[in-house]
Amino acid sequence: SVNGPILGIEASCDETAAAVLAPDGRILSEVVHSQLQEHARFGGVVPEVAARAHLQRLPELTSRAMREAGVEYRDLAGVAATSGPGLIGGLVVGACFGKGIALAHDLPFVAVNHLEGHALTVRLTHPGTEFPYLLLLLSGGHCQCVAVERLGRYRRLGSTLDDAVGEAFDKSAKLMGLPWPGGPYLERLAQEGDARRVTLPRPLVGREGCDFSFSGLKTAVARALAQGAEKADVAAAFQVSVAAVLADRARHALAMLPGARALVVAGGVAANQAVRGALEKVATGAGIPLIAPPIRLCTDNAVMIAWAGLLRLQAGAADALDHAPRPRWPL
Ligand code: KG4
Ligand code: ZN
Repeated sequence: SVNGPILGIEASCDETAAAVLAPDGRILSEVVHSQLQEHARFGGVVPEVAARAHLQRLPELTSRAMREAGVEYRDLAGVAATSGPGLIGGLVVGACFGKGIALAHDLPFVAVNHLEGHALTVRLTHPGTEFPYLLLLLSGGHCQCVAVERLGRYRRLGSTLDDAVGEAFDKSAKLMGLPWPGGPYLERLAQEGDARRVTLPRPLVGREGCDFSFSGLKTAVARALAQGAEKADVAAAFQVSVAAVLADRARHALAMLPGARALVVAGGVAANQAVRGALEKVATGAGIPLIAPPIRLCTDNAVMIAWAGLLRLQAGAADALDHAPRPRWPL
């Protein structure tokens, strides 16, 4: 059994984060620095800029997490760091930083799969959630349906063939002249629009399986705007289309996982009310709850990495210090 706190480190994309969890899963501290400001002027995440920012921020951020938790490095039971999938520069920075701490204090190191972190978060925030459950991961970088069958057993049922859903929000928002990342701005603009004034496609709806495709929708948004449609109406129609697509895909995914005990959403797009409303209906129709962890734990964070690391350590699995980060690492 694990008898000390665990330090988690996340640096796979544009959030630099550190967190400390007690062995029973209590969150002792959590610190996140979002690099939005560093990347906003480029209109997207620049990998090189991200890696440098992680390198610069991690030492201070980690010290702060340890201080706030009131834990000394030597009292840790282990160090967990995201080791993929993600941007390789950041992964290397985060993993090496975690390994350095593990090496200096003779602690076990756990190389955590970022997607496993997202997949298991709900077991921390809603401990009653039983296996198996369906996870809909809806972020700027990831868009997939995952059957979470038990710890260490995940089955990807479907994923995007082109853009992630958050990416579709951001690209469409950009076409509307909104700031980056545009998801929340598009949601606000949509409230002033009438979805019935614009017709947009609903890619893959009714199609077998639960893959996604959003690039055609983005193209249709560009066309509608070029033809003079009101931005707010296009935003509203876009959101209706996305919500309909996600609901259809979720229904198909649930049919592929008979016995699912819950529909769980994670990722920044889970903050969208239209999306939530549509998924709520799907869950209700299937007689299961829709569960969304609080948004700060739905988006990239280190609590989920410490948590996945803790569960892996409890299962007796640590990794060697020469474990190589993997930019692609399917669950
Ligand atoms: O999970 P996340 O914080 O980061 C990763 O992509 O890893 O997700 C960010 C994405 C962005 O594409 C952002 O525009 C989108 O989530 N997002 C939203 C909303 N809030 C954030 N999309 C639609 N509606 C929102 N309210
Ligand atoms: Zn993520």
